[in-house]
Amino acid sequence: MCHCSGTKQSYIQRLFDEGLDIQDISRRTGALSGCGGCEWNIGDYLKELAAQRASGTTINK
Ligand code: FES
Repeated sequence: MCHCSGTKQSYIQRLFDEGLDIQDISRRTGALSGCGGCEWNIGDYLKELAAQRASGTTINK
C-alpha cells in the first residue's frame, strides 16, 4: 500500500485494529514519510476500516 516503505495493507489493518491512528501508523511503518503518494490510499483505507468497524462488519479481501 506504501511502496516507499514497503508497508502492506494487511499490516496497516492490523495496526488499525491495535488502535493506532494514521500518524502512529506512519511513525511505526515509515509509510507517508517518503513520496507521500500513498496518503490518499491509506487515508481512504483507514476511513473504510473505521466505517466498517462502526457498522460491525469486517473486510474480507
Ligand atoms: S508510497 Fe508511501 S510514502 Fe511513497
